[in-house]
Amino acid sequence: MQGKFITFEGSEGCGKSTQSKLLYRYLKGKGLKAVYLREPGGNKISEKIRKILLDHRNDSITPVTETLLYMAARAQVVDEIIAPALKQGKIIVCDRFMDSTIAYQGYGLGIDINLIKCVGKFATSGIKPDFTIFLDLPLRKGLRYRQYTKDRIERRSLNYHSRVLKGYLELAHKDPKRIKIVKVEKDIDKTQSEIRKLVDKLLCHS
Ligand code: TMP
Repeated sequence: MQGKFITFEGSEGCGKSTQSKLLYRYLKGKGLKAVYLREPGGNKISEKIRKILLDHRNDSITPVTETLLYMAARAQVVDEIIAPALKQGKIIVCDRFMDSTIAYQGYGLGIDINLIKCVGKFATSGIKPDFTIFLDLPLRKGLRYRQYTKDRIERRSLNYHSRVLKGYLELAHKDPKRIKIVKVEKDIDKTQSEIRKLVDKLLCHS
């Protein structure tokens, strides 16, 4: 039996890691075989690449290098963890995946989106999420939460982050079957309950 690949996406400070971890614990609590990952990261090599990417001292990284480093981190985690787990029928909950590169490097930095998709296919061997939760939070609110821990990407201008958010919304509107927009509520449990409803529906139809 092939597993399920669920990803979380969203702009800075939208609460993705909290919500994705809560979903992972919920699935484990139901006795399902689940794996939790974050991107970039999820294994030794990809976590090392993450450090290079997010270190604010690395301000000379070019947009092309940045894109390829995200892809390199992804290639490693797909090969080492995602592909084997899917083959074993597990449910993968992943904090960010390819949509992040399209939004942040494509819409945000102007890298050709078709090129990103093409290199992405090479990096992932064509593995795509079955289901994506996009957490929708107004930009200024999210960036405000992150004020004191800004990394290389978070430091970018409000204009940059607006392009990223616009990109995400376009992606979600183009692929409504896969990408579900969930409005971030003040109450963490309320947002989580919306996510669980959507995921339960997905798992029950498969
Ligand atoms: P995080 O803050 O959600 O852990 O993600 C790390 C940062 O990396 C975040 O600012 C978004 C950025 N990012 C990209 O720019 N492109 C990508 O492909 C991925 C996966 C993340």
